Amino acid sequence: QDLIAGIDLGGTKILTAVADRQGNILSEIYLPTEAERGTSVILNNLCRSVSLAMSKAGFQGEPGALGIGVPGAVDKGIVHLAPNLGWKEFDLGRELPRIFNCKVETANDANLAALGEYVFGAGQGSSNMLYVTVSTGIGAGIVYRGELFTGESGTAGELGHTTILPEGPLCTCGNYGCLEALASGTSIARQARELVKAGYGQGILPYVDKHLSAKAVGQAARNGDADAIRIIEGAGRYLGLGLSIAVNLLNPSRIILGGGVMDMSDLLWPSLEKEFNTRAHRGAKKVVKLVPAALGSRSGLMGAVALARRLR
Ligand code: BGC
Ligand code: NA
Ligand code: ZN
Repeated sequence: QDLIAGIDLGGTKILTAVADRQGNILSEIYLPTEAERGTSVILNNLCRSVSLAMSKAGFQGEPGALGIGVPGAVDKGIVHLAPNLGWKEFDLGRELPRIFNCKVETANDANLAALGEYVFGAGQGSSNMLYVTVSTGIGAGIVYRGELFTGESGTAGELGHTTILPEGPLCTCGNYGCLEALASGTSIARQARELVKAGYGQGILPYVDKHLSAKAVGQAARNGDADAIRIIEGAGRYLGLGLSIAVNLLNPSRIILGGGVMDMSDLLWPSLEKEFNTRAHRGAKKVVKLVPAALGSRSGLMGAVALARRLR
């Protein structure tokens, strides 16, 4: 079949698209990852998402090529570490041919989001750029001279697991005080949960849905709750600090910010910007533009489709 597919496999959800070979999207499917149920369930959900997307597009069988973004550093099919899926040196490349009967390539989710934004979104024309996602985890993708820069073993851009606070909270990667442990959606929710457990943060509770998420903290902050505001401001500050390290290292012309937590970028922005401006090198600051992702929650998905297109 002359169709291609892209998957954005996240810590929380799986987004899948089927496209024609020009890259026009024919169908999209959303499934929960169900990472807590283990690897075989995750793999089964990947498989199911592609068949569902194919039939939604009006086709039977499999696409001709498939690109998959995974939420961890990946090198030649080996996922070094995907903390939010519980994968360590996991040979995804060996599993995939058992599930899919087509050409498949894997890449890091944030790298694919960077590619998606560079080709179709806010990165167009900016050949030295950085994309940063703030979601369940924190990840980054580097475009250098118009190509993805992945480093020697695929870990370039692992900004989320950079230590920001040496004695800080435990991260899902096993280290302490990573940016991800201080400013991700998971971290914002965890801080609020701890507060509630200690008998404070009552102002957040009215916004809690099924469980206490970063979104609830955002809503409470928007309605003036002081505890929620403090948590969000803290996260913004650590993000600004993390981004200042990234620009000093890379000197990009653009930083594109995406991921679910950026839905509350208006709340994060004052502290983020202040910290960034305080810390970043003046020469780097002068040229860099911080902009929101143009493709919203679909940057990674579009990057995965772009990857699949290259496989043909
Ligand atoms: C992973 C990154 C990934 C990010 C966003 C982090 O925990 O280490 O590789 O890009 O989450 O999913
Ligand atoms: Na990356
Ligand atoms: Zn970490």
